Amino acid sequence: MSAQLINGTELSKSIRASVTQRVKQLSKQGITPGLAVILVGENPASQVYVRNKVKACEEVGFYSILESIPATISESELLTHIEKLNKNPKIHGILVQLPLPGHIDSSRVIESIAPDKDVDGFHISSAGALVKGLPGFWPCTPFGCMKMLESINYDLKGKHAVVMGRSHIVGKPMALMLLEKNATVTICHSATVDLKAITLQADVIVVAVGKRKVLTRDMVKPGAVVIDVGMNRDDNGKLCGDVDFEGVSSVASFITPVPGGVGPMTITMLLQNTLDAAQKTHPAN
Ligand code: GUN
Repeated sequence: MSAQLINGTELSKSIRASVTQRVKQLSKQGITPGLAVILVGENPASQVYVRNKVKACEEVGFYSILESIPATISESELLTHIEKLNKNPKIHGILVQLPLPGHIDSSRVIESIAPDKDVDGFHISSAGALVKGLPGFWPCTPFGCMKMLESINYDLKGKHAVVMGRSHIVGKPMALMLLEKNATVTICHSATVDLKAITLQADVIVVAVGKRKVLTRDMVKPGAVVIDVGMNRDDNGKLCGDVDFEGVSSVASFITPVPGGVGPMTITMLLQNTLDAAQKTHPAN
């Protein structure tokens, strides 16, 4: 292996330590950042994710509440819950874990969150701010990827960044963040013709497809930086990303591992966004 690892666990630790410090300072002024996490139904993966989010809040000294709501809740009842949280001054961030049950319109639910509490960065006004390069909450996973690039002092200006995947949660906002840093950006997706010809031109590749080994060694230019957003299981049930790690790490200059790469950064950026939300409600800070 020649690539250096970008260690998301270590980077997370240092960012969470500075969040904890800031929480201590804010507490002297009677401010405690507060996050409400809403889980509808009993999706096992979602249960693990929300538990980890609440645990992370506790570790940095936030106030947090987890509302576990039966899958039978109606959309209008859920909207009423969110309305209450929008008005709750102890809550600075609201996160509705996705996916929601089929009878609930996720877009309507997300748009009902007060934009200044949209710490997931999924509200249309957060998305619009990102498009226009205005301040706003950035979605946590691509925000974490940007922090990882920053941690190796990577200057994106003029670099060719290729994003594989075009989801609302990762691919699209990722492309906009890279563009914001003056990279030349290409988004590839399932209808892209000759993917390899494009990835071979990339200085940076962010892979967010949700399938194992979609990026292999022969698709990567020597010295490229590779960020793996994937979270899959291999044939032995072991956690793995979207990148063929063994092959690609022999040509890349930097690579993120799975586990221990982008995963921990997602929750870390949620903490950062919630802290920022709390600070914004008290502009003197
Ligand atoms: N489901 C999968 N990832 C996420 C996330 O980052 N935020 C929310 N709210 N739901 C998710």
